[in-house]
Amino acid sequence: MAGKVQTSCDLMVFGASGDLAQRKLFPALYQLDRAGLLASDSRILAIARAQASEQDVRAKLKAKLKELVKPEEFDDALATEFVQRVNYLRLEFTDTESYSQLNSWRADSNQLIVYMATPPAMYGVIARNLRDQSCCTERTRVVVEKPIGHDLESSKVINDELAEVYRESQLFRIDHYLGKETVQNLIALRFANNLFASQWDQNHISHVEITVAEAMGIEGRWGYFDKAGQLRDMIQNHLLQLLCLIAMDPPSDLSADSIRDEKVKVLKALKRVTPDLMEQSVVRGQYTGGTSDGKPVPGYLQEEGANKGSETETFVALKVEIDNWRWSGVPFYIRTGKRMPEKMSQIIIHFKPAPHYIFDSDQKHLANNKLIIRLQPDEGMALKILTKDQGLDKGMRLRQGPLELTFSETFDTERIPDAYERLLWEVMRGNQYLFVRRDEVEHAWRWVDQIIGNWHDSGEPPKRYAAGTWGPVASIAMITRDGRSWYEDA
Ligand code: BG6
Repeated sequence: MAGKVQTSCDLMVFGASGDLAQRKLFPALYQLDRAGLLASDSRILAIARAQASEQDVRAKLKAKLKELVKPEEFDDALATEFVQRVNYLRLEFTDTESYSQLNSWRADSNQLIVYMATPPAMYGVIARNLRDQSCCTERTRVVVEKPIGHDLESSKVINDELAEVYRESQLFRIDHYLGKETVQNLIALRFANNLFASQWDQNHISHVEITVAEAMGIEGRWGYFDKAGQLRDMIQNHLLQLLCLIAMDPPSDLSADSIRDEKVKVLKALKRVTPDLMEQSVVRGQYTGGTSDGKPVPGYLQEEGANKGSETETFVALKVEIDNWRWSGVPFYIRTGKRMPEKMSQIIIHFKPAPHYIFDSDQKHLANNKLIIRLQPDEGMALKILTKDQGLDKGMRLRQGPLELTFSETFDTERIPDAYERLLWEVMRGNQYLFVRRDEVEHAWRWVDQIIGNWHDSGEPPKRYAAGTWGPVASIAMITRDGRSWYEDA
């Protein structure tokens, strides 16, 4: 985290007892403190509806940190000091009057950050109450989480409510994938290496694959997930963001708006998936019982709290096309699912073969270079290149091998920070380049909405796949029809 310049901050966390705050935000803040990145006079106000004493809140927080932080990164004395920075306020989010208490807590000299770790329906209410009780200023920064709505219209309502109170430059919309070290590395890879810059288009790339697979199922989140589904939960935000970072044109600088302008151009150029393209370009799946990590696991409809008739998808595979000069004719095959064989996210850039092939014809299938970008686990990259097989008897036989860069081995990195650490740090520094602008959210919804509309009109249920597999066979058929296959590391 370049430049350990600390900013004195007052951070108000609405929804502090919720899962996100407990599992992600407080551990991230603890890690920032451990790294010396929280100014000594920065303070945190945990705000929730429950009646609880400050002492209890601190004790619970410390216990949670102990549970979640790796033992070698947990320092008891530091955790005690860290929780002392946390104050607790019981607040009914809809009770306007009670917001005045916030003013006696915050210090004018500190940068105020409001983190809304609440359901999005609360964003407008909290924003208005903060304004009406004069709790925020022109300098206040506001952090909000996905989902920003469940379609374009509802996202506009939420964004309008926020815009009533805050300027766009005050709003930090989180997509935690943008905080992942390897995702940021896409910007370095693409725009710091001229080698790739000249190869990054339809003249040199045949197709791109993006896979974001999770081994876990719904884990007690059925109520939320069933209303969303994998398309809204993962594609509308994380996968489209990855796609944008791969497909965007070079920004003129690293400023937030230069990067976001380029991402928006990609979103606007996504080819519409009209009903006649659905069969060949979209696969929607739902897992049935199977195995995960060698153990039997229930199907989606047998999970706790499930509505047995649900047709919500837990897997989506798409063939996405981008209607612009750079990407004309280059499909992006993207897939994401729950209950896949493993947790793994990777991007594969498949380069076109050399224009004239002179080696043994039975080796022609090896002829494409591939750039493999591993987002998780084993963050790193490998460029698969062809060399001559060694040995007198091998003639000019070819062999494919990797130029390998595993970050943890190559660089002397102590640990890779969690996405939330990076994102909170950037909010404190007032840097918006890792946050999503309103028009990005809206263009992504516009594109996703037409697919949801097509599903709705066709009434076709999701295809089943057994837990612990790579999704419905239709996803394999989708890419095979184009004479390709999902990349598997041999
Ligand atoms: C969240 C989704 O945004 O991302 C979850 O709501 C998903 O359903 C999670 O499990 C995946 O994030 P990561 O960082 O574990 O890949």
